[in-house]
Amino acid sequence: MKVLVTGAGGHLGGAVLARLRDDGVGVRATSRRPRSGSDVEWVVTDLATGDGLVEAVTGVDAVLHLASSPRGGQTHQVDVLGTRRLVVAAGAAGVGHLVYISIVGVERVPIPYYRHKLAAEQVIAAGPVPWSVLRATQFPRFLDDLLAGSARLGPVIGDRAVLAQPVDPGEVAARLAARLVAGPVGGIEEYGGPQVLRFDEAARAWLAARGSRRPLLPVRIPGRLGRELRAGGLVTGALPRGVRTWADHLADTYGGTGRR
Ligand SMILES: NC(=O)c1ccc[n+]([C@@H]2O[C@H](COP(=O)([O-])OP(=O)(O)OC[C@H]3O[C@@H](n4cnc5c(N)ncnc54)[C@H](OP(=O)(O)O)[C@@H]3O)[C@@H](O)[C@H]2O)c1
Repeated sequence: MKVLVTGAGGHLGGAVLARLRDDGVGVRATSRRPRSGSDVEWVVTDLATGDGLVEAVTGVDAVLHLASSPRGGQTHQVDVLGTRRLVVAAGAAGVGHLVYISIVGVERVPIPYYRHKLAAEQVIAAGPVPWSVLRATQFPRFLDDLLAGSARLGPVIGDRAVLAQPVDPGEVAARLAARLVAGPVGGIEEYGGPQVLRFDEAARAWLAARGSRRPLLPVRIPGRLGRELRAGGLVTGALPRGVRTWADHLADTYGGTGRR
């Protein structure tokens, strides 16, 4: 099987390339800039313009679509219109399966980025290529960055009761690879980490792992966004789940014995 991986140079992309390499899958990988690597055929592709897309999809059996532009005002252009360009090109090239990585909660939690991810799912479902969507929960690095950002002013600022379920990107990569092998489901699966954590639990473990004595400054996220986040809009009961915990991530990142 030959697979095109979009956004292969990103955080999840690195884990996916490693996984597919271990599984002996032939990979073509996209980036907006020239890259090279011994096991992977890199092609330059830009979803915002469509440049390089036809060449990228020609001769592959499946597409693993990871590329995304959450920041910088390009989200609609890249995630929605770019996904449409990809679907059209893949359909014309006779690609047999398109697997899209989405996020748990896109249909519930009113975050603008999620609206675009949901629209991208709909573009794929309406397109000519047999498809599967895997919605994953948050990667630990995302939560780590969020906590670092919220602690910029001193205390860690956050809504204590927001629920999160960090999942290891390597485990998400394994799930995506398994979905490729199993073939299209024409539906949506969810995949989350092993534990549902309140924001204050996650923050306390993060502070301890960093040896920090900063206090937690609780705020309450208002409106529907806050209600959804506190009610578990970002978590899933789907099985199976990943096994690597937030404490594992903290131990790997900051050292110490944070493992539970
Ligand atoms: N972060 C999370 O917690 C999380 C959780 C669940 C699902 N996801 C989903 O997982 C996917 C990957 O997330 P990630 O954290 O690995 O993101 P990332 O590190 O930001 O990687 C995304 C990649 O998209 C590519 N990209 C951006 N604009 C592009 C464009 N115009 N044309 C083509 N490629 C473009 C970039 O590749 P180049 O710069 O090399 O072009 C970038 O490396 C996303 O779809 C995200 O929604 C993320």
